[in-house]
Amino acid sequence: MTSPIWQATAQAQPNIALVKYWGKRDDTLNLPAAGSLSITLDALHTRTTLRFDETLAADDVLFNGQHDDLQTRKISAFLDLFRTHAGIATRASVETANDFPTGAGLASSASGFAALALAAGRALQLQLPPHALSVLARRGSGSAARSVFGGFVEMTAGTRDDGEDAFASPLLNAAAWPLTVVVAITSRAVKDTSSRVGMDDSRRTSPFYRAWVATANADLDAAREAVHGRDFARLAEVSEASCLAMHAVMLATRPGLIYWNAATVECIHALRALRAGGTGVFFTIDAGPQVKAVCLPEHAEAVAMALRTIPGVAETMVSGLGEGARIIESDA
Ligand code: PMV
Repeated sequence: MTSPIWQATAQAQPNIALVKYWGKRDDTLNLPAAGSLSITLDALHTRTTLRFDETLAADDVLFNGQHDDLQTRKISAFLDLFRTHAGIATRASVETANDFPTGAGLASSASGFAALALAAGRALQLQLPPHALSVLARRGSGSAARSVFGGFVEMTAGTRDDGEDAFASPLLNAAAWPLTVVVAITSRAVKDTSSRVGMDDSRRTSPFYRAWVATANADLDAAREAVHGRDFARLAEVSEASCLAMHAVMLATRPGLIYWNAATVECIHALRALRAGGTGVFFTIDAGPQVKAVCLPEHAEAVAMALRTIPGVAETMVSGLGEGARIIESDA
């Protein structure tokens, strides 16, 4: 057996679901109740350096330049999966940072756990095939399974109790249909209810939850066909429907989960008006108040300009579609 390479740096980008995931069939293994379909961005990044070090008594985590107990616990528990896999107990130092707001509905946990999974797999020379990496990333956060891949990605819910068939796979690469995403930042505050807690509350209390899970397969079929056929109008229709249905489930949760603010709603109306006037754009919104406008590249500038004039929109970010998680540096 070759001796392990202890250090690796990986980069991953957030992904935005067009057919949403909201609800689990197993909390411990993070198994989704239904599949989802996403696009991976290229302009927002998480970069993570991981070093397994025999001299450390505990994992040492620097998260966005700071020591944070909650993040350290989550990352340590995640690294335990890899330590078990490799049959070691060695602790690690981790430096991870996002170049965009963390915990504010911009999918920082997706890029974060995808980068960490890739770095850990490489550092320990586990030779994991992409689907196995996706399974492991899923244990950190359900959406992280999708950020392992670039472009258009589909996550399968799977049926097995051990979750080995619940992973993402690439559907279409980024260059094959280069859409642009304009993100309207309407608040930089960290959200009150995490998606982990929120989706569990919805599963237990929302009267719409069962109907929501039941619609997922039809939405996935429609979105997959739209992606393969590069049918923007069809993708717009199914994506907005999936987003609004998820937020209906959230609103009907007890107590209600209201992730939107006034600017979020203004953006929705503005984007619908633009589309009615012939602009190739649709919106999607996750567990936070930011609005992601998915557009045809030639319309991105007009969309960004329109969103910037809306009161409450603090900033817009423009991103193309990007690659999956990758190794930036390693001792290998
Ligand atoms: O996997 P999590 O905990 O990041 O949850 C993701 C939930 C949504 O972003 C709201 C939807 C999705 O499919 O990404």
